[in-house]
Amino acid sequence: AKDAVRVLVTGAAGQIGYALVPMIARGVMLGPDQPVILHMLDIPPAAEALSGVKMELIDAAFPLLKGVVATTNVVEACTGVNIAVMVGGFPRKEGMERKDVMSKNVSIYKEQASALEKHAAANCKVLVVANPANTNALILKEFAPSIPAKNVTCLTRLDHNRALGQISERLNMQVSDVKNVIIWGNHSSTQYPDVNHATVTTQAGEKSVRELIANDTWLNGEFITIVQQRGAAIIKARKLSSALSAASAACDHICDWVLGTPKGTWVSMGVYSDGSYGIPAGLIYSFPVTCEKGEWSIVQGLKIDEFSRAKMDATANELIEEKSLAYSCLS
Ligand code: NAI
Repeated sequence: AKDAVRVLVTGAAGQIGYALVPMIARGVMLGPDQPVILHMLDIPPAAEALSGVKMELIDAAFPLLKGVVATTNVVEACTGVNIAVMVGGFPRKEGMERKDVMSKNVSIYKEQASALEKHAAANCKVLVVANPANTNALILKEFAPSIPAKNVTCLTRLDHNRALGQISERLNMQVSDVKNVIIWGNHSSTQYPDVNHATVTTQAGEKSVRELIANDTWLNGEFITIVQQRGAAIIKARKLSSALSAASAACDHICDWVLGTPKGTWVSMGVYSDGSYGIPAGLIYSFPVTCEKGEWSIVQGLKIDEFSRAKMDATANELIEEKSLAYSCLS
């Protein structure tokens, strides 16, 4: 039998945590034959709720779940983990300035970076979900210099999946037949959902989305806005932010990273830029990637038109600004 993989979920007593931990324990993230040990971290005010989540995990009698660590101690939470899903963070409250939210989160991610660097398993893979996701991931990477930059990523898979969902709804076709959309840039409203290379499997073979939806006004306008603003639409409808779709996307992200992407398919991941597509190196930016043997690589050679270029640069500029704001909070 396989050895158990230790998976850390921070902010595990929160909304996304509550949706995510049962998925991991059921094998949705790492596969149906991979035993797991869950490490759950939250802060002292949430300790009692966290103990309730642990009780429910025991009550669910998941066959793959070989242990549960529920703690408010960062070192205990990080010790020996192979995968770290960072969902914990400080939410923006009414009346708070962007800088105040940034400042709170940057200090959390700086501290947790050190704990992961010292105590996680070698080659631990990190996925940051908590907002500002790209910049939290960048801070984590910078303050954990011995963790390879390739191992620190952030979640834009939810945006990617939302884009697939909108295309499939528009065409009234199965979402599993749509592929290769791209989310470029920041997990914020400046993200650029790009369908220029996306395709759909139809009875008449593989067709480009641009050919099937011959409505550039919709594709270059409303489609982009719907994907960018979907988080706000969920909050308006549910009075709570997306949780089941975020948890599911986190599983997709790790699953593809660890087990590989299907041939001919790419996904979107926030990764450390190497300068591909003229995006400044040293940002965590969402790119199209394929994964093989536990490593992602940026899809190269895609043609970028002027419309896309401007949108890719705008979201890069926002990330440059967030980075300097983050550093100003640290000094
Ligand atoms: P939530 O507020 O329900 O849960 C957050 C949890 O984090 C709480 O239990 C809180 O006590 C805990 N926490 C706070 N500080 C912590 C720390 N220092 N260490 C460990 N835990 C800590 O929020 P929810 O809805 O679960 O969302 C979590 C984060 O994910 C938010 O930042 C949200 O903006 C972000 N998000 C990101 C998405 C993405 O696609 N990247 C999608 C949806 C949400």
